[in-house]
Amino acid sequence: AAKVTLATLQEKKEQKQPIVALTAYDYATARLVDEAGVDLILVGDSLAMVVMGYESTLPVTVDEMLHHTRAVRRAVRRALLVADMPYGSYQVTVHEAVANATRFVKDGGAEAVKIEGGASRAELVERLVDAEVPVVGHLGLTPQAVHRMGGYKVQGKTVAAIGRLLHDAHALEAAGASVLVLEGMPREVAARITAEVGIPTIGIGAGPDCDGQILVFHDLVNLSFAKPAKFVRQYGDAAALFREALAGYVRDVSGRSFPADSESYHLPAEARETMAR
Ligand code: KIV
Ligand code: NA
Repeated sequence: AAKVTLATLQEKKEQKQPIVALTAYDYATARLVDEAGVDLILVGDSLAMVVMGYESTLPVTVDEMLHHTRAVRRAVRRALLVADMPYGSYQVTVHEAVANATRFVKDGGAEAVKIEGGASRAELVERLVDAEVPVVGHLGLTPQAVHRMGGYKVQGKTVAAIGRLLHDAHALEAAGASVLVLEGMPREVAARITAEVGIPTIGIGAGPDCDGQILVFHDLVNLSFAKPAKFVRQYGDAAALFREALAGYVRDVSGRSFPADSESYHLPAEARETMAR
């Protein structure tokens, strides 16, 4: 199948074909995700939680994100590869943000970076695009703003908040963002943004009217050790599969039924005689 580019995603919006997106954090899972035909693979900073076990996305560093982005890069052939800019890597100065973003392209092999936030990021989006770094915006429930939001809460539920989200979406588009992730907002608000902006929207907890959908890989396959949010649909139970395999391994090694003779290497016949003497 042909390589997915930003132009492919734009065409999909125009032709009303859903964009399929998913996160991945390592070589093995990224291979499976890419081979399944997912259009956009995000190395999300959600890896802080689902891979590293932190309570929020805030602690993950640029170097850690790059380490995973490189692993995913080696696996992905078809999908568009996007890397999340972690907390603190783009909120201080535009200069620093551009320097960090170019690392994701140069060292990580990302084809775009994702940053959270609205109109206040417009200048940064322009500077990134100037530096040849395509940008995915992220509006609504933005997990790096957990302290300001006072928890992981659905955003855009008042007239004022809806007005801000629409303004933010238009500001990001005008600044040159290529795609918008819409997270944790009423279906009606995501539908309105999707209808008003010319660039593709990708929803998570934002209802079925976006141009595409994204989930966290570990949520999809039940590996996130958390009660799934309302917007998660589990398509498999990897935890159960792994538990069963692990219980079998522990049982067989403990009971000396693994490894068997057939799983062992043997000496050639003449050496076997020497060993026997
Ligand atoms: O980090 C992440 O996984 C994300 C997606 C859920 C959009 O930002
Ligand atoms: Na993220």
